[in-house]
Amino acid sequence: MKLTHLGMFAAAMAAASGFAAMSLGAPGAAGEASPVYGVTIPEGYRQWELVGVAQEAEPLNELRGILGNPIALKAYREGTLPFPDGTILVKLAWKHVPSPEFEAASVPGAATTVQVMVKDARKYPDSGGWGFGRFIDGKPVDEAQHQTCWACHQSLVKDHDFVFTRLAR
Ligand code: HEC
Repeated sequence: MKLTHLGMFAAAMAAASGFAAMSLGAPGAAGEASPVYGVTIPEGYRQWELVGVAQEAEPLNELRGILGNPIALKAYREGTLPFPDGTILVKLAWKHVPSPEFEAASVPGAATTVQVMVKDARKYPDSGGWGFGRFIDGKPVDEAQHQTCWACHQSLVKDHDFVFTRLAR
């Protein structure tokens, strides 16, 4: 399968050169690339704007924040769909912990995953133009987990360019 080959190529290049920043995915990013898609954690994403927040109940029991790069935020504000090439969305997640100081409030506990979606219609024709990456402690998870991303996003959010999060205004 074409995407698998791309991912393997990126991983091989990263391993051979010892220079993962050259891998496919977000430009200028450092770190190991995801299998299948070759997506990396984008540099500087912690300074990006907030798109929205999310929460998931047990068993994951997580608080989440979704950030977007300037291309993503412009598209959200103008209602542009599909999202243009160069759009990057990052979802951060933490364990949901009750505040020790105020019981009804919540605080972010241990960080769990960082997940990335990169839009590049030509590079990712088989997954709606999106490349996916899921990272734990900065390292990409296995290929099997990456096979699940497109299936879920494709089946549930077709009418919103396969993106769940709406802009929190
Ligand atoms: C079973 C369904 C499901 C699977 C599988 C899944 N996601 Fe998602 N994803 C969601 C939902 C629901 C949201 C909305 C935010 C939330 O609830 O956390 C989301 C949000 C996201 C976002 C923020 C942009 C958006 O669409 O809202 C990113 C980035 C993301 N997922 C990446 C991934 C990656 C990478 C994988 C595979 C490793 C993956 N997802 C697998 C359901 C899924």
